[in-house]
Amino acid sequence: MRNQDKRMNSQSLAVDPFDYVLFGGGGDLAERKLLPALYHRDRDGQLPAEARVIGVSRTARTDEDYRAFAQEALKAHVAVGDLDSDVVARFVSRLHYLSVDALGESGWDELKAFLDGVEPGRIRAFYLAVSPTIFGDIAAKLAAKGLVTEQTRLVIEKPLGRDLASAKALNDAIATHFREDQVFRIDHYLGKETVQNLMALRFANVLYEPVWNSNFIDHVQITVAESVGLESRAGYYDKAGALRDMVQNHLLQLLALVALEPPAAFEANAIRDEKLKVLRALKPIDERNVGHLTVRGQYSAGASPDGAVKGYLDDLGEAQSDTETFVAIKAEINTWRWAGVPFYLRTGKRLTKRASEIVVTFRPIPYSIFDDSTGHIAQNRLVLRLQPGEGVKQWLMIKNPGPGGMRLRYVPLDMTFAEAFNVRHPDAYERLLLDVIRGNQSLFMRRDEVEAAWEWVDPILQSWGEIDLKPQGYTSGTWGPSGSIALIERDGRTWHEPD
Ligand code: BG6
Repeated sequence: MRNQDKRMNSQSLAVDPFDYVLFGGGGDLAERKLLPALYHRDRDGQLPAEARVIGVSRTARTDEDYRAFAQEALKAHVAVGDLDSDVVARFVSRLHYLSVDALGESGWDELKAFLDGVEPGRIRAFYLAVSPTIFGDIAAKLAAKGLVTEQTRLVIEKPLGRDLASAKALNDAIATHFREDQVFRIDHYLGKETVQNLMALRFANVLYEPVWNSNFIDHVQITVAESVGLESRAGYYDKAGALRDMVQNHLLQLLALVALEPPAAFEANAIRDEKLKVLRALKPIDERNVGHLTVRGQYSAGASPDGAVKGYLDDLGEAQSDTETFVAIKAEINTWRWAGVPFYLRTGKRLTKRASEIVVTFRPIPYSIFDDSTGHIAQNRLVLRLQPGEGVKQWLMIKNPGPGGMRLRYVPLDMTFAEAFNVRHPDAYERLLLDVIRGNQSLFMRRDEVEAAWEWVDPILQSWGEIDLKPQGYTSGTWGPSGSIALIERDGRTWHEPD
């Protein structure tokens, strides 16, 4: 099928006219994710003619400079086959640039005049692609300069604090100027296709929900493996580590979606209420059990899919660091539905390959009517693959086809979305950026969710310090430290190896 046909026009509804203001508009996130995502939405016919994108930062630039920057960004981050010169021209003509000193006075009046120069009531979204240390200051400035209208939204992204106290302080600073329904806290994992499919599988089918509990589910694994290392983020990452960077947000959000009770409606607050209950029901991990239920690791020199790589300390350029680049946790949820069902979480950098998946393993059959010669009866497994190669596999036992008697075989019902539906996979940001304009907060974290996640993570961080649990080394290109294997094998289970 031609590339053209892979667009999603038929499913894409145009949104209302908007102005997207990108603070940090000349930065890395804008270049790699935000501008390409908006371009794709434009290409799919979803942006109304009036829509504008305004890059903002302190650097002096003209509109033309910014358009040239955007064109380069699209060249670098959009697949060649998706670059249509007419759409690129239309998209860059929407772009404007204003130099604004986020913490000072210059540029704000110009920004206000620019935004006020359209019909009243136009949706405006301020995306803060800047250091979280100035989120509160920018929120205050936007309010003080009269830029916050009824139709204004604020978009922010992690790190949302580095512990519960700082997350609360940040949320308070923002709440002084924005109502909660105006605040869109991005967790880009929630924008991934398979994550939403989890909701469809669970609540648009009758098959799963009756067995979605401790009577039928043995355990759940959530793996978010990366093959990249520190990249150019030493300053941030070494102060954060994998628990703050990945578990507090992405992995706990995935866990909450797997475990939530059926929401009363597919509506933002109904879904978020249920996620919150899961996060609050997580069994506490503290100095009494942290050594048993968590594993920290740090990569050493080894291999990546692209060849030999250095260890974390060399990447960092320091002789010493106790930051973990890998974490595995055995989590449990203290509810009737989930009592006794472990949720094994693991994430790390410089692992064997980039692969993220949620694996739900069902209990063994209670009794086998087959004799040993028919073969081993494996436990049913539902594998939700987030990336790469989004899709769902339901592993089942079937009869081996053909003559020769009854022999059993374990096979997947395989639904690899891109192949099954012949669509291009939208990047998570495409969906999320336009959900902001639609005012749909279903895929964004509410304040109380962020705080509940920190409430569970804080004691883990503290008790690592108290019992002085140092990260174990692991060779780059492996699945992490041996302790991670022991964590699950102690329970008679093994990590599911991603394809
Ligand atoms: C970010 C983390 O939130 O997610 C990064 O800060 C990580 O450290 C990234 O690399 C992974 O995202 P994705 O979409 O590539 O899996």
